[in-house]
Amino acid sequence: MIKELTWLGHGSWSLRLGATVVLLDPFLDESPTSPVKAADVEAHYILVSHGHYDHIGDTVAIATRTGATVVANHEIAQWLATKQGLSTTIGMNLGGTISLPFGTVKMTPAWHSSQLPDGAYGGSPAGFLVRLEGTTVYFACDTGLFSDMELIGRGGVDLAVLPIGDHFTMGPEDSLEAVKLIRPKRVIPDHYNTWPPIQQDAAAWAQSVLETTESQPIVLEPGGTTVL
Ligand code: NI
Ligand code: MN
Repeated sequence: MIKELTWLGHGSWSLRLGATVVLLDPFLDESPTSPVKAADVEAHYILVSHGHYDHIGDTVAIATRTGATVVANHEIAQWLATKQGLSTTIGMNLGGTISLPFGTVKMTPAWHSSQLPDGAYGGSPAGFLVRLEGTTVYFACDTGLFSDMELIGRGGVDLAVLPIGDHFTMGPEDSLEAVKLIRPKRVIPDHYNTWPPIQQDAAAWAQSVLETTESQPIVLEPGGTTVL
């Protein structure tokens, strides 16, 4: 079965698992770096980490067109169902795990904020621990560094996706600390080079990962794919 992860720029990802496509935080049409438009992506599930526009992004348009099931915290799931008319949402909350046909999804804490685009309360921001058959992927999503990342890594993480942009999330230095706590086999940076305030040198970051951790860094360009 195909198991691959494609960066759609910023904090947006597409997981292809056989015939199933799982999107994370699809911010495409307004993103300066997305390689695709919302009208052109496939989706069966969409995971939304928090309410900010650069994460909830094109979720409503994509879910409306494709019928994808949206997984988010309780408040965002309610907002999508009652204010945006989405019929298939799953609300969950921090620490909880749900089983989906492709694997399990655990909602992990994130130190951030989560207001929705219309000003509505967006609940707690989150990350996701996605357990596929044989592969565990941790998406930290928008967050600062926190030491409980060590707990998230204890079950074994094959691939961690960490923000390095700084300003709104962890920067390169703190993400190195995160790698040391999580101890993933491989690590990919995101949430950088979308706009000037989050410009970063990903190659320099990758060199630091190689020199100071046991994890293998992978730097993708938007549109780039890695096999899981
Ligand atoms: Ni955010
Ligand atoms: Mn963000």
